[in-house]
Amino acid sequence: MNKPTVLVSRKLPVNVEARLARDYNGIFNPDDRLYSTEELLQQTAQADAILPCHTEHLSAEVIERLPDRVRAIANYSVGVDHCDLEAAKRRGIVVTNTPDVLTDATAELTILLMLGAARRASEGERLIRAGKWTTWSPAFMVGTEITHKRLGIIGMGRVGQVTAKRARGFEMEIHYHNRRRLDPNKENGAIYHDGLASMLPLCDILAMHCPSLPETQDLLNAEHIDQLPDGAIVVNSARGAVVDEDALIEALKSGKLAAAGLDVYKNEPNIKRDFFELDNVFLLPHVGSATKETRDAMGYRALDNLDAIFAGREPKDRVA
Ligand code: DGY
Repeated sequence: MNKPTVLVSRKLPVNVEARLARDYNGIFNPDDRLYSTEELLQQTAQADAILPCHTEHLSAEVIERLPDRVRAIANYSVGVDHCDLEAAKRRGIVVTNTPDVLTDATAELTILLMLGAARRASEGERLIRAGKWTTWSPAFMVGTEITHKRLGIIGMGRVGQVTAKRARGFEMEIHYHNRRRLDPNKENGAIYHDGLASMLPLCDILAMHCPSLPETQDLLNAEHIDQLPDGAIVVNSARGAVVDEDALIEALKSGKLAAAGLDVYKNEPNIKRDFFELDNVFLLPHVGSATKETRDAMGYRALDNLDAIFAGREPKDRVA
């Protein structure tokens, strides 16, 4: 039987590409070049499936133009906001993602964002690298502790729940808002809020863990930031789209917020210049899932989904 052909849009970990090459005709991207839409469409001419990342914008228009032979889009990501699911459904293209395997890495990174923002990590690092560290004093580089603080989590899915678990190691009091309340035996003492109005005033630190959906665009806006305690800290390891960045920048400039820790932005990688000017923001370049363990596991999960699709089985992680 002929092996199906899979277009792999970006360079994947060695072991993942080796498994793919064993089981499929892989069209690889050894230089890891970001394809333009037209290039991507050209590459799909011979493909039965695409294995894209969140860097490929599979809008309704792009999906409409995919050749008929494309049967599946097996995303190498848990987030699928780059991919128009309704358009894929209309074309009868199966779409999958890679949940679960990113959870620990992303929760770990969320704790890093909290600590980095609260303890002024990038400000300190920049000072040293610029050769400007001249002295020590009791008032030097004073931040805040996260231990015993109140953490609010918006979006208590897999990553939110593990962030809460890790935060309990810092004896934080956990509050959360989610579309649905968790089963009480999964709450482990976390306090549920059915709206943001009751939760935000209680958050010393607010962590964004909700997916980017039409209803979560700019969810953290000026009005919501205003409801946080003065000097609160905001961290975002979900998607840039869920935060109104202008409102965030304004609050960081005014001192309404003490600090922010960000791994995701609206227009990656061309992020707003204002972030560069602010000392009280700890910035990382979308590396929530960037661990060797997780990047391998994401690839295997995407391949498991493709294997199921081409064997005529229902893939585990079907989202469309
Ligand atoms: C994800 O999987 O959604 C990460 O953000 C990397 O794409």
